[in-house]
Amino acid sequence: MTAGEPEPIRAFLAMDLPLEYRDALFAVASRLKRAGARVSWVTPDRMHLTLRFLGEVAPDALERLGDDLALVYERQEPFPLTLAHIGAFPNVRAPRVVWAGLSPLEGPLTACQQAAETAARSIGLKAEKKPFKPHVTLGRVRDPKTAGKLTAPLMDEQDFHGGEFEAGHVSLYASELTSSGPRYTQLRVFPFSWNS
Ligand code: 2AM
Repeated sequence: MTAGEPEPIRAFLAMDLPLEYRDALFAVASRLKRAGARVSWVTPDRMHLTLRFLGEVAPDALERLGDDLALVYERQEPFPLTLAHIGAFPNVRAPRVVWAGLSPLEGPLTACQQAAETAARSIGLKAEKKPFKPHVTLGRVRDPKTAGKLTAPLMDEQDFHGGEFEAGHVSLYASELTSSGPRYTQLRVFPFSWNS
């Protein structure tokens, strides 16, 4: 970067969950916390479903991406999503990331993720190599030696059913890394306005 160029923004695209659903997930996390593993638990205000992590992007490119996506997402109809299942990456026996799952994965959720991927490529970002595994991160294990304490409680929670809600928009967030964890700022909202 040369002097005078605007600073890039660390950004990602995500779907938001209604607050009562995030609170219900935090209640699950609070039960898992009792296991005593060293984990950074995500507070409800930071919970989301990432569609595409963009990384550092120049502000003008981010604006172009936003303008493209606004046109795509306004043709999307709001759709139901169900919060179901608690799991862990890579697996519950050696958990590193504790998450809540969503269903159905096929259909509009995948279409929204593909639109995000297409828009990311159109501003020159590299293709995302990792397969899309929609999840809401609840916690990140900080000390792998303590992770085994989570296995049994995770199995107890795996059939969690958090209910259905209507997905009505996608958000563009800036993510700043601070000493007290990431700080997310909602930069733009893309409403699903087909038929509404
Ligand atoms: P995660 O919840 O699975 O950790 C903001 O950082 C969001 O982007 C997080 O939800 C995070 O997913 C996701 N993300 C995906 N790839 C990332 C990366 N390489 N660095 C940071 N966050 C990433």
